[in-house]
Amino acid sequence: MKKVLFIYFSQSGQLAEIAHSIAAPLLDNADVMVDFYEVKMVQSFPFPWTSEAFFDVFPESFQQLPGEIHPPDKAILETDYDFVFLHYQVWYLTPSIPINSFLKSKYAQTILKGKPVVTVSGSRNMWALAQEKVKILLRDVDAILVGNIALVDKHHNLISVITIVDWMFSGIKRRAYGVFPKPGVSETDIAEAGKYGKIVLPYLKKGNFEGMQRELVVAGAVNYRFFLVSMDKKGNRMFRIWSSIILRKPAKRKRLLQAFKYYVIFAIYGISPIVYLIELLLYPVLYVLKYRKEKLYYEGI
Ligand SMILES: Cc1cc2nc3c(=O)[nH]c(=O)nc-3n(C[C@H](O)[C@H](O)[C@H](O)COP(=O)(O)O)c2cc1C
Repeated sequence: MKKVLFIYFSQSGQLAEIAHSIAAPLLDNADVMVDFYEVKMVQSFPFPWTSEAFFDVFPESFQQLPGEIHPPDKAILETDYDFVFLHYQVWYLTPSIPINSFLKSKYAQTILKGKPVVTVSGSRNMWALAQEKVKILLRDVDAILVGNIALVDKHHNLISVITIVDWMFSGIKRRAYGVFPKPGVSETDIAEAGKYGKIVLPYLKKGNFEGMQRELVVAGAVNYRFFLVSMDKKGNRMFRIWSSIILRKPAKRKRLLQAFKYYVIFAIYGISPIVYLIELLLYPVLYVLKYRKEKLYYEGI
């Protein structure tokens, strides 16, 4: 009997749906026992978000400052799991505060130490550098990363910004203004996520994960887009500066967050299309020099 734990946090329910979809083939298997653990914070976050609350979580999210979480059930803490699926969403190019708080808590050490882990992100589309931060957090608790599934909104970057804002501020996953596509991970990708559970199943039964990530990638588990990784890196550099300044000047927090909001809008709609055009023109050269290697790296673990 293999014991598998699905860890997740989700405001809208999207990551909960993804977790249950991936778990379906495991639940059908008599040799596997599946548990779910939903991370719950003592201080919760609003959903739908107000604009003020949405930007107010930026400095603490980006600087990975943890908050207090409620302890997981005793039964979960006392079970010696063979395998863990860790689901997370990205907040400001960083694992969300609830997941960061869990990974930095004493409970993460108890649950994850020495355990093989597959990470599953459900983000808008910028997950690559957040995954690097999750890798460090997993290493800190001696967990063993054996696979990664990164589910995203596959629509154009600028469209997905409009649609996610509508989703986050209305709380409804709908076609914004009746014309845009639905935001987030598509219903089809969520419904079909069971294929990843099916791929992982024989590996977790064997306890040997060699070749598993390649199989997951072939099935569509990772969506590498060169421009998004490039923006992710640039965004991380700027967010580091902004978040340090805001945290160092608590008296000016409100005004600085307001300025940060306008900076983000300008960066997305003013700077990013120009950078995109330049990088598109240079694509053949950059592919040979950078993207080919980068793709293999981010598709790996
Ligand atoms: C405060 C906040 C910041 C976010 N920042 C990012 C981001 O930097 N990159 C990204 O791809 N998605 C970002 N998202 C989208 C989330 O990763 C996620 O897809 C969405 O919040 C749905 O998650 P849920 O399962 O908690 O409902 C952000 C969402 C929130 C609420």
